[in-house]
Amino acid sequence: MNTVTLKINGTEVTANEGTTVLEAARSLGIDIPTLCAYDELEPAGVCRLCMVEITQGKKTRLVTSCVYPVENGLEVQTETDGVNKIRKMLIELLLPVAPSGPINALAKRYGVEKSRFQSDERKEPTNCSLCGLCVRYCEQVVGEHAVGFIGRGVDRKVALLPGKGDECAFCRKCYSICNSGRFVEMAEVFPDQP
Ligand code: FES
Repeated sequence: MNTVTLKINGTEVTANEGTTVLEAARSLGIDIPTLCAYDELEPAGVCRLCMVEITQGKKTRLVTSCVYPVENGLEVQTETDGVNKIRKMLIELLLPVAPSGPINALAKRYGVEKSRFQSDERKEPTNCSLCGLCVRYCEQVVGEHAVGFIGRGVDRKVALLPGKGDECAFCRKCYSICNSGRFVEMAEVFPDQP
């Protein structure tokens, strides 16, 4: 397999062609925040938290590292002011959240205490970021289409699709990968679950 060499935060790294900037950064132990990336799933570029700054020649721009392929000579910065400003805004858009879970941890990491965008319509804290991991996992790994999005705007949420409750009752594999740590909407369907 061909390899390419790039620099991430000033450190040179060699990566296989076709892999992503996120994977190359992780191989260096660099922690780029993610909510919708999962090894067993095709990257979907949904949450945008993995945004990084890349420079090619004289051009600098922001890209989504979980879907951006490594390239020879690429220079990547993972925590610039511009990158962190966007991450803060994305985290604000996810608030309010319950007091524990990955979004709360991200808010602490990036110093986000409240949201400029918080609407009165969404008063109930949740840890569901609508990252869609459960939906994609059900489709791509389990081979079912039992979980999906319903509703729009602030009412958008993840739910069991009609007639799929029995299959989910025996599977529940998406519980273990849910970013919220507890599959909030599913808990409404299976109240005995955490
Ligand atoms: S992890 Fe890249 S967009 Fe969500």
